[in-house]
Amino acid sequence: MEILQTPLKKFYIKTYGCQMNFSESEIISGLLLREGFKPAEDIQEADIIILNTCTVRDTAANKIIGKLGELKKLKELNPGLILGIGGCFAQAESEFLCRKAPFLDFIFGTQNKLIIPDLIKMVESSRISDDYETVLDISVQDESQFEYTDVSYSNPVSAWLPIMQGCDNFCSYCIVPYVRGKEISRLPGDIIQQVSGLAERGYKEIILLGQNVNSYGKRFSVKTDLQVTFTELLKNISNIEGIERIRFITSHPKDLSDDLIDLMSTEKKICKSLHLPVQSGSDRILKLMKRQYTREYYLGLISKLKTKIPEISFSTDIIVGFPGETEDDFNDTVELVKEVRYEQGYLFRFSVRTGTAAEKLPDHLSEEVKKDRLWRLMEIQDRITEEESRKYSGKTIPVLVEGADFKKEGEHLTGRTETNKIVIFNGSEKLIGNIVKVKINRTTPYTLFGEVI
Ligand code: SAH
Ligand code: SF4
Ligand code: F3S
Repeated sequence: MEILQTPLKKFYIKTYGCQMNFSESEIISGLLLREGFKPAEDIQEADIIILNTCTVRDTAANKIIGKLGELKKLKELNPGLILGIGGCFAQAESEFLCRKAPFLDFIFGTQNKLIIPDLIKMVESSRISDDYETVLDISVQDESQFEYTDVSYSNPVSAWLPIMQGCDNFCSYCIVPYVRGKEISRLPGDIIQQVSGLAERGYKEIILLGQNVNSYGKRFSVKTDLQVTFTELLKNISNIEGIERIRFITSHPKDLSDDLIDLMSTEKKICKSLHLPVQSGSDRILKLMKRQYTREYYLGLISKLKTKIPEISFSTDIIVGFPGETEDDFNDTVELVKEVRYEQGYLFRFSVRTGTAAEKLPDHLSEEVKKDRLWRLMEIQDRITEEESRKYSGKTIPVLVEGADFKKEGEHLTGRTETNKIVIFNGSEKLIGNIVKVKINRTTPYTLFGEVI
């Protein structure tokens, strides 16, 4: 009998949210490639579309809801299309999705992405049997859900690497602990093995990911007596030959240890930049946010870091318009921003998330007040970002060459400084993957332009 060969199905993943989500999409991509699917160039030519979603703020959730309308239209044009949705929004809103978007074929959560190939098979067989409804699985796993064998990395030089998942902090505004579960760390041996493999494949930079990397090692994915701190893990990763740069996000100020500051100041491979979300400069608001540190403690930390690592650069996250925030509280944040002088600030308007403690707090502010404060703070941060960026002008600095825009002549290589600034400069594509010295001739707030020395 002649066997009819069906062409390989093509998949397209659209990712929203934080680096953790982008990293998990690389894992999903790897899984699907291993199953024999092929990546689609764009969403139009895909046979399988997967949305990996975020719900950290209402703006993030609204983007997903908007995208669902687009998917519905695609499905009407092509009823054979397989549509899947997963990640944080799906974990929080699976019921809403089942009700409002019956055209979706499968829904997965934040902890069960490894079953996606099975979900696709279930969808395919339900179509044959005409037994058709959305396949829903947002189950939470008890043990190891970490599998990193065939990750399809999108950058050839720098790799994201989750070292833990979930969060135990329950900051009062935040949905993340509810959608990603309790904090669980990967075993250090597995992480080291993965980084060594990446080093052998030519990767130069590793970006360790976790909601709060500083509390790494509190609870592992399997039962063990192991006691390993984040600083110890970093030390071990630093010893891996071939890896030249190590970054990590996110650090929670309350858990940033003196050991870590000391290691950052002595270990050349650890980048001298730190994302240290402050969220607010007012003690009253920090307490309502359940951040577990004071303004004084945070500024003390910054000052200690600046003393021990003079070249360090900082970035931060700030929420304005938290319930009960007065003009005085807001001014405390403004003053803190001026004092620290972050190279980059991710500034957000408070957004109520269902089920969080902040939802029940009194004195929610109007959108007008929140927007007004956000604009005022943005203006100040933008000026600081620009001024800090200008300081690079005329300096010669090491840049890790990450890629090239092959369509362009002249300045077409891209890379990053140790302080995580993007640099565009001229040079041969053979430099990709190397750290080169670049002289900065021109700056914009977020990008530096220069030439290889
Ligand atoms: N684990 C990281 C990232 C959390 S989400 C951390 O602790 O920093 C990224 C940022 O989104 C947070 O730092 C916070 O500034 C912002 N954010 C979270 N929940 C929010 C909400 N309900 N409204 C507005 N911004 C929020
Ligand atoms: Fe959310 Fe706070 Fe956990 Fe960060 S540390 S993910 S802000 S609860
Ligand atoms: Fe969003 Fe989930 Fe990350 S809610 S910010 S994608 S952890």
